[in-house]
Amino acid sequence: MDIKHYYNPHGEEILDEKIFGGSPSGFVDFNRSKYRWDVNIYDLMNANTWFPSEVNTSAEKKNFDLLTENEQAIYKMTFAQLSFNDSAQEEYLSDFRRLANNRLVKAVLSLQIMQEVNHSKSYAVLLDACGNSEEVFNLYKHDAALNAKNQQVAEQFAKYIDGGSADKMLLSAMASINLEGIYFLLGFSYIYLLGDKVPGARDMIKFIARDELNTHLPLFVNIFKTIKKENDISSQTIEAIYCMIEDAVRIELEYGHYLLDTYPIMGVTHQLMEQTVYNYANDRLKKIGLDPIFEASDTTYLQKLVTKHLDMNDVKSNFFESNVSNYAKSSIDLNDF
Ligand SMILES: [Fe+2]
Ligand SMILES: [Fe+2]
Repeated sequence: MDIKHYYNPHGEEILDEKIFGGSPSGFVDFNRSKYRWDVNIYDLMNANTWFPSEVNTSAEKKNFDLLTENEQAIYKMTFAQLSFNDSAQEEYLSDFRRLANNRLVKAVLSLQIMQEVNHSKSYAVLLDACGNSEEVFNLYKHDAALNAKNQQVAEQFAKYIDGGSADKMLLSAMASINLEGIYFLLGFSYIYLLGDKVPGARDMIKFIARDELNTHLPLFVNIFKTIKKENDISSQTIEAIYCMIEDAVRIELEYGHYLLDTYPIMGVTHQLMEQTVYNYANDRLKKIGLDPIFEASDTTYLQKLVTKHLDMNDVKSNFFESNVSNYAKSSIDLNDF
């Protein structure tokens, strides 16, 4: 790596820095943003800063022990998979960030990396309180379906991450949209279904879900749309994007169906899961400016559960820090580039 990587007085103007390709001068200047959404998302991520210690997990073991056997299995299998997602995302983001050119977008990615690490810490805190951390983190060794989902998530991340072209960069960004916008969603709704029985897990997931869906997903939606706008993307790449989200839907439903068939929960059906994942996938496609391709249905009960917990105003008794209630989401436009 030569010195220009860090400092290049003959590099391009800050306002000319694209996401893919170029030679930046080496400054991170929050007062000169080419896009504006990057600064808005950075500010929102900072405003939402939280720490695992803010969640009351003192009764988690007692509450967990009162769950039915199926509920306990769902709890463990859900956290086993979600914790992999965050571990993988941290590593992927470090690779994606290295390939990006615009220094302000890279700065926002740095903050996202920190938040994914915070999510990993939160699983450790929660599962330690629950007394089954080692067991849950080792489940991938014993469960073929869990191992298969992790493997496929990792393969999507790895497939295009060499940054050799704008098209590959776009496909890499799509892997992150799938992670933030598809692979977490059934897991979140499972924990919300257990709800008041395990308030520690529910509240931890509320915070994680808010990061993933209120800021990380919008960040990658904007990165995706910007790469697409700044480069001449081939029609084959767009076709590959559709294939990637079809794969993501299949991967999410395979694991979802497996959990449901093995550990049934009252009120949840294959059809409910399919409608939920299809609706989310259509929404993600619309967000990135592509056509929805999955069978559409009314907003499902599981979607409503997830949406309900995205609202910061319903956080009351369990949190004592004022910073989490000073939530500033509504006034910020995240799609303003
Ligand atoms: Fe995360
Ligand atoms: Fe995330």
